[in-house]
Amino acid sequence: MFAGLKKSAILTCIASVVIFASFTFVDKNISTKENIYISDSDSVWDIYEKLGKIKINRVNTSIEGVSIEKGRNLVLTGISTKKNGKGKTSPQSPYFKCISCHNTKKEFDDLSDISAQKRLDYAEKNDLPYLQGTSFYGIINRVTFYNDDYQKKYGHIPIIKASNTDIRQAIQLCATQCAQGRALEDWEIESVLAYFWSLELKIKDLKLNISDKTKIETAINNNKNNSEAIHLIDAKFWDKSPAHFAEERAYKAMDKSSLENVVRFKNGKLIYDRSCLYCHKNQRFSFFNLDHSTFSFVNLMFRTKKAGMGSIHKITRHGTWPLAGNRAYMPLYPLEKLSEDQLDDLRIYIENMSKGNNLIANSR
Ligand code: HEC
Ligand code: HEC
Repeated sequence: MFAGLKKSAILTCIASVVIFASFTFVDKNISTKENIYISDSDSVWDIYEKLGKIKINRVNTSIEGVSIEKGRNLVLTGISTKKNGKGKTSPQSPYFKCISCHNTKKEFDDLSDISAQKRLDYAEKNDLPYLQGTSFYGIINRVTFYNDDYQKKYGHIPIIKASNTDIRQAIQLCATQCAQGRALEDWEIESVLAYFWSLELKIKDLKLNISDKTKIETAINNNKNNSEAIHLIDAKFWDKSPAHFAEERAYKAMDKSSLENVVRFKNGKLIYDRSCLYCHKNQRFSFFNLDHSTFSFVNLMFRTKKAGMGSIHKITRHGTWPLAGNRAYMPLYPLEKLSEDQLDDLRIYIENMSKGNNLIANSR
């Protein structure tokens, strides 16, 4: 009995200390800390950091000569001013620029829904090319690179394996293998990375609703439920660019109703114009010329029926290998960059055009 009383007295005492402590805590909070509100222009990484997430893909600014400007020039033109600012570097590649295969703009309206058709629709709406490589926009918000089938198929090659979790290795790999050019020096890689940071995701890209924003703000301001808030942001975009390869397909006659489908024809034209022609028109990045002439379409259809490497069913799924003397190569399209339906749409467009059937000639 006596002991019981004592116990409850102690409990009351502890409780009041706790209450008192939490009052002073709240008080302190109000008096010294201003509440944080999220704005559209905040960077996603800044908000993550406020929630306690450790930043990755950081630039090493201790390397001499690193600048965003040099990185931008390397990516857009293949040349920059030298490390010491005097004169120009040699071109990174005689064949390609990084932007031959990668956009630098956002490629999706909703970054959590990255289907191939959504990407094509967005490219059409925003006048972007439709390419085999993923956009550099938001690349520093990604955690792994050369994912899925790139690892499954080529993961035995050390630099490809290393590239999976190391953005610097991924940049170097693409410079030497994709662009078939010289290796980048450390200050060049770091400059490219610095430029990539200028393309980081912003809060407005995530399309958060008011309730999401409030949850995140409450978590930051109370330093509570931080991992829930982090997960909420995680779900709004892909932190990797998935890549699954498709098998090549044999040539098969196409049924009439598909061939006459105007919507599919239009979609095929979008792919031809925004993807194939981006590199092949006027031999921009390839010695193989393609345009809107009947010859181009007849030639492509001929190759496709012959089912050799120039067949659209093969070239899109395997790409080409660098040839002696001409080391430019065509990268393959994973399903995420060209779906099986889209490949059929391309076929529908090319086959009709090879016969002079422009299904939309009268509609525009
Ligand atoms: C000939 C085409 C081509 C060129 C040129 C090219 N790339 Fe790539 N790059 C690709 C393809 C294809 C991938 C495969 C992965 C992806 O982007 O989905 C890739 C992947 C990457 C990745 C990893 C992306 C990811 O999320 O998995 C980085 C980083 C990269 N490239 C940087 C560069 C840089 C920097 C240059 C210029 C020095 C360059 N690339 C030039 C085609 C190219
Ligand atoms: C990123 C640039 C790029 C894109 C996009 C691209 N190609 Fe290519 N393509 C190349 C390069 C480079 C070659 C290698 C041959 C050369 O340069 O002569 C090539 C080769 C080819 C060849 C074989 C040519 C030959 O010499 O036999 C065909 C056919 C072809 N491409 C069709 C297409 C089609 C169809 C598309 C669209 C779905 C497309 N390409 C998209 C760059 C590209």
